[in-house]
Amino acid sequence: MLPEATVPSRRRSCPGFLPPRRMTVYTYAAIFIALSSVAVKNGQSQTGPHSRAIELSAQHAEKPDFSEDSAGDAACQPCHAEKAAAFHQTAHSLTSRLPQPGSILGGFAPGSNVMKTANPELFFRMEQKGNDFFQTAVAGAAPFISQRSERFACVIGSGGKGQTYLFWKGDDLFQLPVSYWRELGWVNSPGYRDGVANFNRPVIPRCLECHATYFHSMAPPVNRYSRNGFVLGITCEKCHGPGKVHIRHHTARSPASPDADIANPAGFSRDRQMDLCAWCHAGAGDPLRAPFSYVPGDRLDRYLKLPDPNPAVPIDVHGSQVELLERSRCYQQSDLTCLTCHDVHSVQHDLAAFSERCLSCHKPETAMFPQRSHQTDSNCIACHMPLEETNLIVFDQNGKRARPKIRNHWIKIYRETAVNPGD
Ligand code: HEC
Ligand code: HEC
Ligand code: HEC
Ligand code: HEC
Ligand code: HEC
Ligand code: HEC
Ligand code: HEC
Repeated sequence: MLPEATVPSRRRSCPGFLPPRRMTVYTYAAIFIALSSVAVKNGQSQTGPHSRAIELSAQHAEKPDFSEDSAGDAACQPCHAEKAAAFHQTAHSLTSRLPQPGSILGGFAPGSNVMKTANPELFFRMEQKGNDFFQTAVAGAAPFISQRSERFACVIGSGGKGQTYLFWKGDDLFQLPVSYWRELGWVNSPGYRDGVANFNRPVIPRCLECHATYFHSMAPPVNRYSRNGFVLGITCEKCHGPGKVHIRHHTARSPASPDADIANPAGFSRDRQMDLCAWCHAGAGDPLRAPFSYVPGDRLDRYLKLPDPNPAVPIDVHGSQVELLERSRCYQQSDLTCLTCHDVHSVQHDLAAFSERCLSCHKPETAMFPQRSHQTDSNCIACHMPLEETNLIVFDQNGKRARPKIRNHWIKIYRETAVNPGD
């Protein structure tokens, strides 16, 4: 096995490895998640969530050991084969994986494995050696070249839009400086300064809580985890709760118990259904209890403080589907939830099928159907849930800034759409 870090002796004199800018939790977390509007508004660093997370580690013991009552996805397969097969194609299931050929979308072949930066004396090289994948920063000009190499430990992101990668340093988990974005190829990780090699960004539990099923925290420091105590991907039991008892009942063919032995969100109240999705689709929030302790069906506000969005500040489209949907009149004046449109067990990208969901309430030939210039077979989504750029995921690449587009979940009239009928 190769060493985790190859840091040649000349590293100290290397201009490419400037000390990273002070990386606060704000700059770190804002990359992927909507933070409180206050933080977004004044751009100030927020140390709150960080110190909070360290504090919380003390409460770790109260949290049930994940593995004890959980069976894992493979155990659901025999009886729910169709659901499992479809689910394993979804972004939820694929959102974190071990590095393998196929799970890392960027290229490792010569010609596609180098990322240049704005700094002529710094580039990154991606290499596969046997079953291991490495990211190497190469800095300086010949003959004073120095390198730092780290091994991919975990892939975050299904790759629908992009992926970012993590590495271990001892038991501590960090983000790698080079990510992959579908439209750009290898890129500086979002929020990283172009031309600087930064290997110092810790991966906090909240990031993994949204993108994986479980990581056993061994904080402090906040990014220390058990190297074999994790479950990647969002699995069935993340939303349904532990399944061992359910499986035992059905395997034994004992008469079905009248008590539910596994959570079915279809039976939750509307608020608890929204809570399940808000766990990961309503911004980072402030943890009130240890990460990974939320149990679907429970009240989320006992585990996570999600600040009320400031009405004066626009909500970013990234990661805030819950707040945006809640601003919609459709939501306020009906019993609409995320589940009205989404079946999380399958991949859904057919906009005509989504438009059918609109028509289930805005029925043609009723007053709910718009009276002017509307056709029943038009694409409701394009005009009423437009794709918009996020300001929370920003890539600095070759002097350009790139921002991915995400579907806005505030269903309303966007005046600018009227000029493009039929779009
Ligand atoms: C040995 C077969 C078997 C296994 C294994 C199994 N299930 Fe089930 N499951 C069933 C059957 C049968 C039903 C339908 C029971 C009913 O409708 O009362 C069911 C129902 C469910 C329901 C709906 C429950 C309700 O109250 O509406 C959920 C959710 C569920 N299973 C999830 C899972 C998950 C998650 C796993 C893996 C951890 C799993 N099942 C493993 C047989 C199984
Ligand atoms: C444990 C965190 C978590 C929970 C709970 C969760 N999601 Fe997600 N969801 C994610 C993450 C992370 C992604 C992005 C995955 C990726 O592309 O890597 C995502 C992506 C999605 C997508 C986009 C799928 C695609 O094909 O691009 C939809 C739709 C979605 N979630 C709906 C829901 C709904 C509805 C609920 C509630 C029933 C829910 N999610 C609950 C974390 C979660
Ligand atoms: C509060 C939950 C949450 C946290 C925390 C979070 N994410 Fe995400 N992330 C999401 C959701 C939801 C999506 C997809 C939907 C969207 O963009 O709104 C997503 C999308 C992504 C994607 C793009 C996936 C794709 O292919 O579309 C990447 C990569 C990613 N996140 C990485 C990270 C990393 C790395 C961290 C931690 C440093 C992090 N995220 C923290 C919820 C979260
Ligand atoms: C992101 C959350 C989430 C994940 C992950 C998830 N489910 Fe579900 N599941 C739901 C929700 C929400 C419902 C209720 C609404 C519905 O039926 O879609 C549900 C309903 C069910 C039901 C009962 C309804 C029916 O159609 O029979 C079964 C069985 C089930 N899920 C099995 C699974 C299995 C097996 C997996 C993993 C392969 C899985 N689920 C993964 C959220 C999830
Ligand atoms: C569960 C029912 C339901 C669904 C599904 C639904 N809506 Fe609505 N929608 C409503 C209700 C109720 C109102 C408020 C009606 C009123 O004020 O007369 C509304 C209002 C609207 C408005 C006016 C908003 C405003 O701010 O003036 C638009 C536009 C709209 N819906 C479009 C859509 C589109 C597009 C979809 C599908 C993406 C959709 N709706 C899905 C129930 C629904
Ligand atoms: C009225 C229908 C509707 C409702 C309700 C709805 N969505 Fe969506 N959602 C869509 C459509 C349409 C898309 C775009 C699918 C595509 O482009 O492939 C989408 C896409 C997404 C995506 C991927 C966003 C992106 O651009 O990458 C996520 C995540 C998501 N939804 C989560 C949620 C969550 C969480 C809820 C509840 C708060 C929710 N949705 C409620 C219709 C809906
Ligand atoms: C080409 C863009 C576009 C498409 C496609 C579109 N809408 Fe609209 N919609 C608008 C605009 C713009 C308005 C504002 C009123 C107007 O100018 O007629 C509107 C208004 C509405 C309203 C508010 C009620 C009213 O009479 O003012 C509802 C509800 C609505 N649309 C639903 C839908 C549904 C459902 C679909 C899909 C069948 C759809 N829209 C497709 C652009 C569009």
